[in-house]
Amino acid sequence: MFVELINLAIMISGRGSNMKAILDSIRRGDVYGIGKILVISNKQDAWGLKIAEKEYGVKTATILSDRKDESFESRLNFELKNNDIDHLNGLVCLAGFMKILSPSFVELYKNRIMNVHPSLLPSFKGLNAQKQALLAGVKISGCTVHFVDNGVDSGPIILQYPVPVYDNDDESSLSERILLKEHEIYVRAVKLFTLKQISIVDNRVVQI
Ligand code: GAR
Repeated sequence: MFVELINLAIMISGRGSNMKAILDSIRRGDVYGIGKILVISNKQDAWGLKIAEKEYGVKTATILSDRKDESFESRLNFELKNNDIDHLNGLVCLAGFMKILSPSFVELYKNRIMNVHPSLLPSFKGLNAQKQALLAGVKISGCTVHFVDNGVDSGPIILQYPVPVYDNDDESSLSERILLKEHEIYVRAVKLFTLKQISIVDNRVVQI
């Protein structure tokens, strides 16, 4: 039987622990149906780049950017094309990628870009979501994997996982507890995608 492989781009800006969770799941065969893999960073010193290359032997590309840089996405498209990743066969996973993609890129890869965020969206969008949760005094926070639309940390929600907030939590302890669940649901979301078990109905992701 002919199996259509998904070519995967993982985009990072830093530590890359979600990237690592996805690469691990592919390595152990939990997630399959992936063809080419490219890790892209917009930061030269992103720790995840070293992990991708040294631990997983995965190809990487660094596309440096600053706020005024308009050529970022033409270079991004060049790298994707060079690695046979396109809007028909590709999946783009944002994994701690701290740069907003343009509406035209998001439209081209509609329902093929995923993001992970450390809160139960739509609560606590943007930076420091765990700190926002602590300041709001919520007793339950969590994490979300969603398809990316033109908003910040918005788009159809694929999976969420609740995480308790304890009285003695600080930003770091809460972030650590949430991060473990991020890894789990990101891998599950990628697996659902590769198995073609999700579709979007009226802006809601439903499992087939
Ligand atoms: C993760 O907690 C992820 O949810 C968050 O950045 C961290 C990256 O960690 N992303 C966002 O806040 C996006 N709005 P990682 O580099 O170890 O995967």
